[in-house]
Amino acid sequence: MCGIIGYSGPLNAKKILLEGLSQLEYRGYDSAGIAYFDTDSNIRLVKKTGKVANLKEYCSQFKDNAHCGIGHTRWATHGDVTDQNAHPHQAGKVTLIHNGIIENYRALTDSYHLEGTLKSQTDSEVAAWVLDSLYEGNPMEAIRRLLPCLEGSYSFCILFKDHPGELYAVRSVSPLVAAYTRSGALIASDLTALIPYTRRYFVVPEGQIVKLTPYQITLYDKNQVPAQPEYLEVNWNIDSAMKNGFPHFMLKEIYEQPEALRNTILPRMSRGLPDFTDDQIPDSVFETCNKVHVIACGTAMHAGMVARALMEPLLRIPVTVSIASEFRYEEPLIDGDALVIVISQSGETIDTLAAMRLAKSYGSKTLAIVNVKGSTIARESDYTLYTHAGPEIAVASTKAYSVQLAALYLIGCRMAYVRGRYSSQEACDFLSKLLDVIPAMETMIGRKEEEKALVTHLIQHSDAFFIGRGRDYAFSLEGALKLKEISYIHAEAYAAGELKHGTIALITDQSPVIAIATQEHVFSKVISNVREVKARGAFVILLTKQSAVMDESLADFHIRIPDVEDVFTVFPIAVILQLIAYYASLGKNLDVDQPRNLAKSVTVE
Ligand code: M6R
Repeated sequence: MCGIIGYSGPLNAKKILLEGLSQLEYRGYDSAGIAYFDTDSNIRLVKKTGKVANLKEYCSQFKDNAHCGIGHTRWATHGDVTDQNAHPHQAGKVTLIHNGIIENYRALTDSYHLEGTLKSQTDSEVAAWVLDSLYEGNPMEAIRRLLPCLEGSYSFCILFKDHPGELYAVRSVSPLVAAYTRSGALIASDLTALIPYTRRYFVVPEGQIVKLTPYQITLYDKNQVPAQPEYLEVNWNIDSAMKNGFPHFMLKEIYEQPEALRNTILPRMSRGLPDFTDDQIPDSVFETCNKVHVIACGTAMHAGMVARALMEPLLRIPVTVSIASEFRYEEPLIDGDALVIVISQSGETIDTLAAMRLAKSYGSKTLAIVNVKGSTIARESDYTLYTHAGPEIAVASTKAYSVQLAALYLIGCRMAYVRGRYSSQEACDFLSKLLDVIPAMETMIGRKEEEKALVTHLIQHSDAFFIGRGRDYAFSLEGALKLKEISYIHAEAYAAGELKHGTIALITDQSPVIAIATQEHVFSKVISNVREVKARGAFVILLTKQSAVMDESLADFHIRIPDVEDVFTVFPIAVILQLIAYYASLGKNLDVDQPRNLAKSVTVE
């Protein structure tokens, strides 16, 4: 959470910072600010509540020239959304921006006698004052002394008043990537801000300090000795992080799913079988485990639930799915024989990362399914399977979900094969059916007008219900999450059989019920549940396979997906659920890509 950018170089720093903040805005958008050395080498600080556009407009009055500065877009944790609480924060000679949480800020406030000095309610300002009090003219030394004082997670970019042109950065847990480019030295919380300038970058190692000047970027290890950064190459370009003619990132990302699936599946096919040789995941990982534990948050966790419904009956071993923020405070029943699969688009979600570390401490092997190359989860897991979806910018996750599913299905298939549950022919058949979901998704994208039409009813209501059984219930959870996060309609998903145990009391005349009935063995049961809500006046939006036979009068709105096998219906259904949420948000004239209170990457607990 929170977007961070820093620059030192020959170009117009203000422009670079403001443009970078626009690229990073999806990380947080309560307020934004920049600080830079002006022509007289004084630090100018400008910060404003609201979106980056607000800040840009406000900054246009300052005609000064700058070549070194820092910028921040905030997702509030400590303190309200006010100009004062916006970053950067200034304390004596120090000006800094922060992403993360300083958990011991109260203790630091007391021990450094900061009560009465602080101008904001933020933990970040406390860190700035502590750093200032440790500063005796040597930035590296002061930062080195600051780190042991801090508990929590942080990435900082720091200017020191008496060191114009220089910018210092350090991190623990919260991400930072940096690069020296032809345009100068750049550092940011996220690659999207660097990509207009370079494809080569490095991830700042935790606890190491980076110094940026117009001429170079230097990484110092924990002993303050210059260290060689480990450079990585981005495999997508700036176009992937632009809307490219689409009105919203979310719609663009929905459209990108077929391509993303191809990119994730095809390089991992060898002689018709899933193959992870290039990912350096040996079969022994799949052969030896006696249980699978999937850990993730939000949409990624929902992908895990769908995978469980595939893997457990197929592999005949226990497959458990946990919410990362719960798992990390439990005493999980895992050991060296468990395979722990963690799923994260960003690879930075703090709870998922902490849960993975816990799993490792129990001796389990960890396999991470991650979209962002070089992210912390990817680097710390024993094995990594990258999904190749390209950058996902909209806060509501769409293409990341379908590629996570594809990766999980590849794993399930490989596991079944190496454990003797699938013959090679069965594994090849499974994979070829997985590829068939791509045209099915394309079909549903092409029929987006259906969802556009049905939301007219939906957006007149403040509540909606998603029902389904088995896999359809797992899809419902994702449908409800998508709808509530961007349309603010209160949406709940229920296992259809549970309705009569309480929830059905909420169904009144015209209540929208989105019923998913794509699983053959429970189809008639779900249809019975649809009858029950219909009898109580519900407005039923029914999602079934093309060939489903039923009484048409049951549904007020009926969307049919191409006839794929039951295990694969999630892919076309996901498109429908995403488009329902998208058009509902649009119909209510809301901010589709940046819904209130949310941010793309959840790097605080
Ligand atoms: O980056 P991650 O996949 O770890 O993120 C997990 C969740 O925060 C994320 O899926 C969230 O639920 C989405 N905004 C939902 O659309």
